[in-house]
Amino acid sequence: MPKMGIAIIGAGMIGAAHASAYRQFAHRFSGGALRLRTVCDMNPKLAQDLADKFGFEGVSSSWEEVLADPEVGVVSVCLPNMLHTEVTMRALAAGKHVLCEKPLALNADDARPVHEAARAADCISGTVFNYRRIPALAQIKQRIAAGDLGKPVQISVLFQCDYAADPLLPYSWRYKFDKAGPGALLDLGTHAVDAMRFLFGDVAEVVGAASTISIGERYLPLGTAVGHGHVELSKKKEKVDNDDVMSGLVRFANGAQGYVSASRVAVGSGNRLAIEVHGTKGTARFSTEQPSHYEIALMDGTGPANFARVPNRPSSPSVGALAAVPHDLVSIGYAEVFGFMIHEFLSAIDAGKPFENGSIEDGYRAAQVLDAIQQASVINAPVRINWQD
Ligand SMILES: NC(=O)c1ccc[n+]([C@@H]2O[C@H](COP(=O)([O-])OP(=O)(O)OC[C@H]3O[C@@H](n4cnc5c(N)ncnc54)[C@H](O)[C@@H]3O)[C@@H](O)[C@H]2O)c1
Repeated sequence: MPKMGIAIIGAGMIGAAHASAYRQFAHRFSGGALRLRTVCDMNPKLAQDLADKFGFEGVSSSWEEVLADPEVGVVSVCLPNMLHTEVTMRALAAGKHVLCEKPLALNADDARPVHEAARAADCISGTVFNYRRIPALAQIKQRIAAGDLGKPVQISVLFQCDYAADPLLPYSWRYKFDKAGPGALLDLGTHAVDAMRFLFGDVAEVVGAASTISIGERYLPLGTAVGHGHVELSKKKEKVDNDDVMSGLVRFANGAQGYVSASRVAVGSGNRLAIEVHGTKGTARFSTEQPSHYEIALMDGTGPANFARVPNRPSSPSVGALAAVPHDLVSIGYAEVFGFMIHEFLSAIDAGKPFENGSIEDGYRAAQVLDAIQQASVINAPVRINWQD
């Protein structure tokens, strides 16, 4: 079998997570025919450092060059948000298997052609919705599907981070609407909305939403900022024009209601995804701050329902033989979950089967909901979603 090269496009914070996961799993597939070929970044030092760290063969500063390389067959798009659609479309057109970071696009209008192109393409593609592989989330989904919680009534999903809480963090593409789209909403709310859809299905309407910018301007950096890192600041400030906090109230197609909130200025919350699901017969809840288990309370007719703990199990969905320590209650963290997703993506490529657990369509459907939340916050009125089109 000819060797197929893997390329990472964008060697910033999340490019490293992709590189690490490919390093961990690539050898298991295609009879060992996958190779770690290229790390691409417009900043050559970042590309070289990442390539050296995870053993990629070469570097490039041009994503066009990477897509033109016949030896590259698999591409991870880890660029800033405004480049996702163009590079993903071009990768699909070049016949590459492609995994695009979230958000798939800055808005649903831009996401739709990617969805159509992916549907028509003869290659495997997906949107990075890594949190779907958290054992607790996957297990809660199974419990809902099995009817254990009864009829879905309400879900709340909070995604709270404090990466932007420090006003001395440099200005970057993240704080500009035409580069990043909505701020916390698109950066973090994308995961929160996907988690809601994962558990409760399609969203039919955003009933209302509120947006806040709490730090109105930031200093431009003098050096290169990677991810949410500090660098030396200039004296010049730039206006922030996208949300630091966004919250929305939604109605699902199944009649249930949901509350979703994303914040990048929630002091003390490093990376907190917290979910609570209520059905007619029970409640399940989980937070990434306590990743070893979820809690469930079920009415059994004998009195008040109490919460019981359900630990991670090696038998949890997505975990299986991939857990480094396959033992009950051993926590499964962010990096492992990320690896499970890359493993699933490579498995789909290997089997020639669609990557359905975080598809490009899921990226488009999330974009429809995110657009509606954004719009509802501006017009201060409900927005319906054409979720079946
Ligand atoms: N799935 C997750 O959990 C998760 C977590 C963090 C970030 N992300 C997503 O990943 C994407 C990247 O975020 P990040 O935090 O890694 O950002 P980052 O700023 O750290 O990295 C982006 C990299 O892209 C490079 N780049 C920019 N334009 C380029 C071009 N034209 N050609 C080549 N390289 C170019 C930059 O030099 C930078 O190194 C974002 O869309 C973000 O939403 C996802």
